[in-house]
Amino acid sequence: MKILITGGCGFVGTNIALYLNSKGHKVDSLDNLSRKGSKYNLNLLKKKKIKNINIDIDNLKKILKLPKYELIIDCCAEAAVEISRSEIDKVINTNFIGTLNILKKIKIDNSKIIFLSSSRVYPIKSSNKVIKNKIIKKKIKSSKLFGEQDNIQGPKTIYGLTKLTSEMLIEEFSYAFKLKYIINRCGVISGPLQFGKQDQGFISLWVWRHLNNSNMKYIGYGGFGNQVRDVLHIEDLCELILLQIKKFNKIHNKLFTVGGSNKSKTSLKELTKLCEKISKNKIKFQKIAKTSIYDIPYFITNNKLVSKTYDWKPKNNIFGVVNDVYMWLKKDKSKIKKYF
Ligand SMILES: NC(=O)c1ccc[n+]([C@@H]2O[C@H](COP(=O)([O-])OP(=O)(O)OC[C@H]3O[C@@H](n4cnc5c(N)ncnc54)[C@H](O)[C@@H]3O)[C@@H](O)[C@H]2O)c1
Repeated sequence: MKILITGGCGFVGTNIALYLNSKGHKVDSLDNLSRKGSKYNLNLLKKKKIKNINIDIDNLKKILKLPKYELIIDCCAEAAVEISRSEIDKVINTNFIGTLNILKKIKIDNSKIIFLSSSRVYPIKSSNKVIKNKIIKKKIKSSKLFGEQDNIQGPKTIYGLTKLTSEMLIEEFSYAFKLKYIINRCGVISGPLQFGKQDQGFISLWVWRHLNNSNMKYIGYGGFGNQVRDVLHIEDLCELILLQIKKFNKIHNKLFTVGGSNKSKTSLKELTKLCEKISKNKIKFQKIAKTSIYDIPYFITNNKLVSKTYDWKPKNNIFGVVNDVYMWLKKDKSKIKKYF
């Protein structure tokens, strides 16, 4: 199948592009190379003769001039929540207008879309309900799993808003123009080719700092590092996307919550222990007690629907994710250095 991956030089996009290419699909990437690390990923695509089209996703004129693709996998975003507070226009143009432009293109070509949405569509208050105090001194004990049916009303960050409105726009285009789609509402994803920052891609940042013996911070909720997330290995996501492509004609116009779930949940403190074990380095952590209004203390995904629909489950646990990130960073450390 001829496939375009937007954000194809980003962490998720490159992994999906390489994976689908290895399965015989004809893949192109669209990426303006604005993310640190995207040039490193571009070199990997070039080695497999995957072309990158270097244009801005908010440029409708250029998007409409692209050749026809049977499927567009939309992985292009400004993905950091904190940036969405300081650079509102950039985030809305990339995330929302970008998806609108892709939909206009798909409408003309009568092609399909798989959209990478985010668990940040859920309101901040839903996650806050899991904890009793804003200072989290002990391990969070909760069995709450977030799924498709959970409440989406309430402030969620401007990033989350752009993902939710993109989801809604896709549903509207599907209703009005019979366009076929799949939306994957993903929790935290990690794995090789991720160039992490404090507020986006924290797993790879954690591993990188341990590998280099440099210091870190526990930020928010008192600075104890007890915030919890589940982490989906990119390899598991790639396998799911391939299944979705294979079954697209039968299964479409669906939204799924997708995550690592209980198998790969971790608090920041537990992540530190795992990094110490794998890297054999112990680094210092500074405590920053103050919590950003955009942070959430807890998120674990309910995979029930996606598991049942595709007979798919994440294979990797948190050790598998962290270890694979470590192996990649260690192997290519000298080349990767300039991107962190
Ligand atoms: N990484 C995660 O944990 C995670 C979790 C849930 C959802 N998602 C979603 O998955 C998708 C991919 O995320 P990622 O982690 O790979 O992010 P990423 O930042 O690594 O990749 C995004 C890519 O888009 C490119 N880009 C940004 N603005 C652009 C523009 N205006 N025009 C063209 N290209 C542009 C960047 O250069 C980058 O290579 C995003 O839609 C994100 O919202 C990611």
